[in-house]
Amino acid sequence: MSDKRTILVITATGKQGGAAIKAIDQTKFKILAAVRDASSDTAKSLGVDLVQGELDQPDSLFQNEPIYGLFLNLGSPNPVEQKQHGIALIDAAVKYRVKHVVFSSLDFCGNETTGASFLDVKREVEAHLKAQSSLRWTILRPVGFMENFYWPLYLNQVTTTWKDSAAAGKHPTHKLIAVEDIGKVAAEVFADPEQYYGKEVGIAGDELRPDEIVEIWKKVTGQTLQAKETPVFPPGIDIAFQYFIDNGFETDVQAAKKDFPFLQSFESWLKKTPFAHAA
Ligand SMILES: NC(=O)c1ccc[n+]([C@@H]2O[C@H](COP(=O)([O-])OP(=O)(O)OC[C@H]3O[C@@H](n4cnc5c(N)ncnc54)[C@H](OP(=O)(O)O)[C@@H]3O)[C@@H](O)[C@H]2O)c1
Repeated sequence: MSDKRTILVITATGKQGGAAIKAIDQTKFKILAAVRDASSDTAKSLGVDLVQGELDQPDSLFQNEPIYGLFLNLGSPNPVEQKQHGIALIDAAVKYRVKHVVFSSLDFCGNETTGASFLDVKREVEAHLKAQSSLRWTILRPVGFMENFYWPLYLNQVTTTWKDSAAAGKHPTHKLIAVEDIGKVAAEVFADPEQYYGKEVGIAGDELRPDEIVEIWKKVTGQTLQAKETPVFPPGIDIAFQYFIDNGFETDVQAAKKDFPFLQSFESWLKKTPFAHAA
């Protein structure tokens, strides 16, 4: 019988869950990937053991073997579901005596709320987690994902909303993190739990002005970012992005890089993407 401790990864088929699976040391831990459809190609391609179940009734995810660690991320776009999933998974972690919950929340820019319900619900889930005296936890606070640049509307912000906001003197820089690195931080937290119990860990790999992003984009991809139209985001997302532009992320990039020297710069990340390969 294996003496590896099992980590249950929520949103295994998504960006953060997938990154955690890649990064967690599988010589020390067994990964159990929680999926909605174990027969899907994405689930099968994860290359780890799968457990299929619903996140609002998660007993089936926990009851087959002892779960040591839970990587918790809220992947539903629906805030009501996010809350249901978060609360139900934390309650299950208590019931099944999980030893360490690592919850990937977000950097709230130093405020309690953002005004965007799909973000603010994470505060409610954090509060529920912190209220469980029997659970040891770590909260990760990633800033804006570099992967958001795959969304043309987000990319367009660099030369419109971000630039205008920076010119108006509001937070001239924007902080960014590669999702791959969130997985690596989660892996370090699971590997060295004593250092991270009860901690809230800000994660940011770079901090750039809009003109610096334009310059790096040109250097790496050969293309000039020059959107003129301010993007119109779907309701809810618009509030969230404006909030981050107006408030600025709290995480200290240099401190984060000191703790986690592997955190990538935007340029390093961009060089590995299809944007660079198209140049
Ligand atoms: N974008 C940013 O800059 C940023 C920054 C900080 C924090 N965040 C937070 O990151 C979270 C999203 O993480 P991500 O980007 O890693 O996710 P993602 O890549 O969008 O993937 C979503 C994951 O959630 C699962 N999922 C979606 N709806 C579900 C449902 N109703 N029931 C169960 N599972 C469901 C998906 O499973 P299937 O494959 O089965 O669909 C998939 O595994 C959000 O809470 C967001 O607020 C984002």
